[in-house]
Amino acid sequence: MNLAEIRKDYQSRILDETTVLSDPVAQFLQWMDEAVKSEVEEPTAMHLATVGADGRPSGRMVLLKGVENGGFVFFTNYDSQKGRELAQNPYAALTFFWPELERQVRIEGRVRRLSREESVRYFESRPVESRWGAYASPQSRVVSGRAWLDDAYRQATERHPNGPPCPENWGGFVLLAESFEFWQGRQGRMHDRLKFLDGKIVRLAP
Ligand SMILES: Cc1cc2nc3c(=O)[nH]c(=O)nc-3n(C[C@H](O)[C@H](O)[C@H](O)COP(=O)(O)O)c2cc1C
Repeated sequence: MNLAEIRKDYQSRILDETTVLSDPVAQFLQWMDEAVKSEVEEPTAMHLATVGADGRPSGRMVLLKGVENGGFVFFTNYDSQKGRELAQNPYAALTFFWPELERQVRIEGRVRRLSREESVRYFESRPVESRWGAYASPQSRVVSGRAWLDDAYRQATERHPNGPPCPENWGGFVLLAESFEFWQGRQGRMHDRLKFLDGKIVRLAP
């Protein structure tokens, strides 16, 4: 397989200064709505980049669970690698990619924890299997094997047959956006890129 020969030309849509919404959060929500309606696989999946005290970046996918007052909400284990890195350095970057729409959105900003009440409220709305899983899993720690995980999950179901309490080290983060970039794939790699920064919209070269 020659990866260098895999190419796709983007040509279905354009993004320009005359039609982009002046509020980047509204623009994001419009694109998210279109991604959901287009039945994009996992439209709320986003890449989250963090940088710990050692200055080295790390990335992983998480799910966007809401946009509240311009903040982008996701949930995780606070003792995981991302949780520890965000405690050391509260700046993060989110990236969405919706291939069916030939669109990417980049969002950067500062992250803070949600309140315990908000985290518990969301935790309790999750399916019980996800709650047992979050309760049983010491996310990002090395474990001895699959059997250890299966046993931890089984113990959680036996100890809390009606569902476990929200672990103290589990909850939400909200990223308060400082910049946005909307990317629309175009023909010949001459993509549209509009960046919102400090109240201005600028066009970036592709
Ligand atoms: C599509 C997708 C969605 C995910 N959503 C979440 C999420 O919302 N929260 C979470 O903690 N992990 C989520 N994960 C798992 C993370 O990518 C990652 O494996 C885990 O959070 C541990 O990351 P860390 O060791 O960097 O902290 C998701 C994975 C995928 C592929």
